[in-house]
Amino acid sequence: MAAATGYVLGHQDPEVERLLLQGRLYGDHTEQALRLAGLEPGMRVLDVGCGPGDVALAAARIVGPTGSVTAVDVQADILDVAALRSAAEGVSTISFRQVDITQPTAPEQTAPDHTAPDHTAPEPFDAVVGRLILMHLPDPVGALRTVAGLVRPGGVVTFQDFEVSAARSVPELPLFTRVRDLIVAAFRTAGARTEMGTSLHRVFREAGLPAPRSTLGGCLGRMSDPDVLAFVMGVWSALLPVVERLGPELTEGLPDLADLPDRLCAEAAAADATVLLPPLVSAWTRRPAEWP
Ligand SMILES: C[S@@+](CC[C@H](N)C(=O)[O-])C[C@H]1O[C@@H](n2cnc3c(N)ncnc32)[C@H](O)[C@@H]1O
Repeated sequence: MAAATGYVLGHQDPEVERLLLQGRLYGDHTEQALRLAGLEPGMRVLDVGCGPGDVALAAARIVGPTGSVTAVDVQADILDVAALRSAAEGVSTISFRQVDITQPTAPEQTAPDHTAPDHTAPEPFDAVVGRLILMHLPDPVGALRTVAGLVRPGGVVTFQDFEVSAARSVPELPLFTRVRDLIVAAFRTAGARTEMGTSLHRVFREAGLPAPRSTLGGCLGRMSDPDVLAFVMGVWSALLPVVERLGPELTEGLPDLADLPDRLCAEAAAADATVLLPPLVSAWTRRPAEWP
């Protein structure tokens, strides 16, 4: 599945679990950043690369019963997960659509819920949001330009992405640092941008948008915290096949998958270390009246 979409982490069950954990760890920051970006009750919001729906659900909470969210993803199976979660929470203001936002037809594909009264032209959204999507796209500038064009003049454009390489431990731990560096190398090999967080400012401007404001959110803790360990192991497990394809010497001497959690915990406990998971950068701006 990963090969068909270019999304390196795929969508098997463990990846859905990983996205749900990630959503929980970064959820507060995401919702606060959406409010800072200017999301308000009554808005019509487009969430691109919605995955299991955390961002769409956060947006739905903010826009309330008089607003709506259109959540799009290229993968039908993850949209099913998102729709089930939304139904379980009793949210009826989110509609889900299968859309590849890199395709030139993307604007039309989002139109059915958002057609003007005469049904001839799509009605623009009040905001477009997206978390951890631009880092996975081959042309983030082009994609941002396309989706920003679906927003009304003055509407909100806001995206959130990781600074993967900024994950670290204090003090530095050799095993954890080696795993982090291999994760960064695997992401890069697979075409993901590991510094998209700090690149958002440039990407917004290259897409023709005004310079964004931004904020940083994160999650840190002890390696013995089950969520911290599960986050590290989840990314490592998903990317291990990519690491192994890079060369057998890269994993030489590393504990195997079953032993790694204990070894990471022991190393961190011995050094009384704190682990900083990758910071999430949120950037936002407004669509100018003049648009290409
Ligand atoms: C890392 S996940 C993030 C999901 C969600 N935004 C979140 O923060 O939990 C990236 C999502 O983008 C989707 N995606 C990747 N390429 C896409 C494309 N070209 N069009 C639409 N969605 C895409 C993937 O299927 C995946 O669900």
